Amino acid sequence: MTISDNTVAIIGAGNIGGRLAANFAAGGQDFLLAGRDAEAARKIASDLDGHAEAVSVDEAVDRAGVLVVAVWLDDFKQFIAQYGQRLADKVIVDPSNPVGPDGDGGYRKVIGEQESSGQILAGLLPAGARLVKAFGTLSSPSLTSAARREPDRAVLFYAADDAAAGDLVADLIRASGFDPVRVGGLDQSIRIEMFGDLHEFGALGRVVTRTEVLKAI
Ligand SMILES: NC(=O)c1ccc[n+]([C@@H]2O[C@H](COP(=O)([O-])OP(=O)(O)OC[C@H]3O[C@@H](n4cnc5c(N)ncnc54)[C@H](OP(=O)(O)O)[C@@H]3O)[C@@H](O)[C@H]2O)c1
Repeated sequence: MTISDNTVAIIGAGNIGGRLAANFAAGGQDFLLAGRDAEAARKIASDLDGHAEAVSVDEAVDRAGVLVVAVWLDDFKQFIAQYGQRLADKVIVDPSNPVGPDGDGGYRKVIGEQESSGQILAGLLPAGARLVKAFGTLSSPSLTSAARREPDRAVLFYAADDAAAGDLVADLIRASGFDPVRVGGLDQSIRIEMFGDLHEFGALGRVVTRTEVLKAI
């Protein structure tokens, strides 16, 4: 099964949701786009050459097999609590970084030092739902500016316990104009979340190609 056998949805039409929407459309990927603000989602979708269909969150959950949930950690938890068993057969893509303002113009981690939002969220999902950590490793400007680089694509890391779910998300990463590199299972999520060693705002500190990064993982 490839991504073309699945209906894809982006939930959350904010900064990251909007950037992912533009990247998917540029790669020819069709998808549903659902935000809390229906008008904002419609506006984004209307600029994407027919690749995006603005729908309600309810409809996106009903129709899509692959849901990219581009919302903050607390909203993500609420989303899982609200939809519960309706997520049981879905692939849930998690770009979240567990951070909040540090009061000094920067960010701080809002969960335990050794915790990852990927593992926390995976633990909240119903049996049968498969979480893949992806699309959160770059800053939002880089997600746009580094897409479709030539001659070598920039890397987007992902982490997945389920190989088939990971392969679907790798297809989505390619459609977004990046080179997918799997770091391992969800226990590696922390490495690709903000402050992790493979994050743009962590030890890696920049956008990289596959050749540059293979020795780091
Ligand atoms: N910003 C970055 O550089 C960056 C980079 C990588 C990853 N991330 C991660 O990406 C996620 C989103 O960040 P962002 O910068 O895109 O935030 P954002 O601009 O605030 O967008 C979040 C969007 O999610 C919507 N939302 C919240 N709950 C929802 C729900 N239940 N259903 C539908 N939509 C919902 C919000 O709607 P309302 O406006 O109505 O609340 C808002 O439009 C976060 O987890 C963040 O850590 C961010």
